[in-house]
Amino acid sequence: MSKLFVLNDPAVRELRESHPLLKNKALIGTGQFSGVFEGSRPDTVYKLSIDRASYIFHTSYLGKSDRTHFTKVIQDHGIVGRFKTSKNVVRTKLSNPRELDAPIYLYEVEKLHKIPVKTENKLLSMRITKDWRTFDFASDQQELFHRALDVSTQIQERPYMQGQDSVLEALLSISYFLGEYSDAFVDIHGANMMQRANGDFVFSDPIGDLFIYNSHYTFGSVNEITPEMFESIKSSLIG
Ligand SMILES: Nc1ncnc2c1ncn2[C@@H]1O[C@H](COP(=O)(O)OP(=O)(O)O)[C@@H](O)[C@H]1O
Ligand SMILES: [Mg+2]
Repeated sequence: MSKLFVLNDPAVRELRESHPLLKNKALIGTGQFSGVFEGSRPDTVYKLSIDRASYIFHTSYLGKSDRTHFTKVIQDHGIVGRFKTSKNVVRTKLSNPRELDAPIYLYEVEKLHKIPVKTENKLLSMRITKDWRTFDFASDQQELFHRALDVSTQIQERPYMQGQDSVLEALLSISYFLGEYSDAFVDIHGANMMQRANGDFVFSDPIGDLFIYNSHYTFGSVNEITPEMFESIKSSLIG
């Protein structure tokens, strides 16, 4: 799947080379919305991202709530640039993304680690991923929120969740965010769960920005999306 945030785009290159915090920092991870760079210390990383929903979730929404299963923010550097999305996408009848002038956020967070195979955390991440795949997209945010709550409630009943109250709390916080923020989706899959050096299980990237996502993959706003379009978004997300 093509990346929404193109780290080699000339404007982003310029930012990476000129920003005092990013200059000479190695890129250590990428996703659809973000680049992750070496931080100011060996135990932190810089996140450069156009994912506004995820930025708000981590820097404001979680506030002082328990972060055992969420990434701890070290410092918020706010908006450091802008990025024009979908510039290089070929326009066809079926694909006509809107260009957005999206703010680029920079924040420093604790460094996390990939979950090793054949561990309890791996098993947990695989089971949660599988259960989230039953999630049906909805054509408005309130419906999305209620479905997320439904899935969390179903997960609560699973044998593997017994005794995992704090993980369940975290899943509920993720779901509640969908009721608070107008353009967010749950983005739970293998690469978005990580762990701390002490073994804590962490939802490292559980939220995605639906406004940015839709502008890239569809014609119009979330309200104009048909159930068929949501099915296709859903399968591209879990694919
Ligand atoms: N806190 C972190 N510490 C170390 N690596 C990270 C951290 N957060 C993310 N990464 C790595 O960077 C990749 C992209 O980050 P992610 O938060 O998933 O961004 P996106 O929103 O683009 O998917 C992840 O798949 C992971 O490999
Ligand atoms: Mg990710």
